[in-house]
Amino acid sequence: MARETFAERLKFAMAQQKMKQVDLVRIASARGIKLGKSHVSQYVSGKTVPRADILHFLAEVLLVEEDWLRGNDPVIEMPADDKMKEVQVLGGRKMREFKKSSKLDHVLYDVRGPVVDEATKMEEAGTQILKLNIGNPAPFGFHTPDEVIYDMRRQLTECEGYSPAQGLFSARKAIMQYAQLKKIPNVSIDDIYTGNGVSELINLCLSALLDDGDEILIPSPDYPLWTACATLAGGKVVHYVCDEQAEWYPDMEDIKKKITDRTKAIVIINPNNPTGALYPKEVLQQIVDIAREHQLIIFSDEIYDRLVMDGEEHVSIASLAPDLFCVTYSGLSKSHMIAGFRIGWMILSGYKDAVKDYIEGIKMLSNMRLCSNVPAQSIVQTALGGHQSVNDYLVPGGRIYEQREYVYKALTDIPGVSCIKPKAAFYMFPKLDVKKFNITNDEQFALDLLRDKKILLIHGGGFNWKQPDHFRVVYLPRIQVLKESVEKIADFLSYYHQ
Ligand SMILES: Cc1ncc(COP(=O)(O)O)c(C=O)c1O
Repeated sequence: MARETFAERLKFAMAQQKMKQVDLVRIASARGIKLGKSHVSQYVSGKTVPRADILHFLAEVLLVEEDWLRGNDPVIEMPADDKMKEVQVLGGRKMREFKKSSKLDHVLYDVRGPVVDEATKMEEAGTQILKLNIGNPAPFGFHTPDEVIYDMRRQLTECEGYSPAQGLFSARKAIMQYAQLKKIPNVSIDDIYTGNGVSELINLCLSALLDDGDEILIPSPDYPLWTACATLAGGKVVHYVCDEQAEWYPDMEDIKKKITDRTKAIVIINPNNPTGALYPKEVLQQIVDIAREHQLIIFSDEIYDRLVMDGEEHVSIASLAPDLFCVTYSGLSKSHMIAGFRIGWMILSGYKDAVKDYIEGIKMLSNMRLCSNVPAQSIVQTALGGHQSVNDYLVPGGRIYEQREYVYKALTDIPGVSCIKPKAAFYMFPKLDVKKFNITNDEQFALDLLRDKKILLIHGGGFNWKQPDHFRVVYLPRIQVLKESVEKIADFLSYYHQ
């Protein structure tokens, strides 16, 4: 291959030095050079080229000549901190360039990142892509229960105005009753906030809590929005390991050893995205004990709490911690297949005396965004009451159950692939034998699979998993599509060597 562009030469030089993107970020940080993960991934994917000073750094670390590394691409000559430099001449007039804020330098969100950008380019060029990358039920033929749509239609004309900032009374009342069923203690209607999806509320809670350098424990692997929002808020994310050998449960010893005086909170994702793990009561109890000992806030993301299989029951961690401050998140995106309507909520529970000021902050940010989507709030009561049609998908004969069974067996039949069987949600996080495939860069693996087989999935690094040995599969597509995909993955892995 003629390596002419900067991106191609960079990838080549990284492979020669056996360096991953994180290695470059780490070395840059050790030398006090500002180089975020998102920068490096944009260089590797060919979306941007570096400034002269960064090019110099990369060439030095990768032991290549600057001129060679630059390839045929121009390099932007610009001092690191100059955010509004005049860079172009338009009609004789110099134009300012606007760059994204440096707050985003270390923010990574690969669920919609470079591999996905490449897939979009391929689609725009007319290639059909099999997508196993995003937990969005509707495009896979999962539809909203009729009653939900009917009730939203009926109420639409009453939903024209803003609602109270925390949400409509009827919605919050239904959520409060749901909290009672989940045995979440000390919850009044004032402790419930609706949001434009759980996503908005994660951002809101972390922005209200974290000062620069405050630490927060977040699982690895994680749903990367947590890490991204904590970083954006100025917090220092400390990842604790979830142990694949132990059903992907959080490793308590790892959590304990990572707590410092600056640790303010611990995040759990239960049921888990990307592993599909469901934490039993004993595991939750151990997390509560640690949080109690170190006076940590518990943030529990339970958006998949109603997508549990094998007769298991979901336990809300907040139900075990009446004496701690807990925030429990859930919503209708997954359980009611209405991710596009944007409705989620959070429940503040337990001991609140010590967090009065923090709650003031949450209220302030909630007021500032005025309210969440009101038509979507209007169907919370309908959705949470009565027959839960999602249950039919989760038992033998149901789509999610059968798709899990199929994809689990098919993937683990591939030599070099192993997997812990998920109990909940609709994700699987299989492991690759990196020695067998010589994989050192999991993003490269995802890109190679995409280019060779037109299958889009997200590499483990996209979920803040540090080794290059995992990928996530979303098993929402119908079995026929999953079959086609897994056969292609099997074929790819029969010859792939990185
Ligand atoms: C663990 C987890 N939390 C939150 C979200 C976001 O949910 P929402 O659609 O409510 O913003 C997702 C979406 O995939 C998720 O997997």
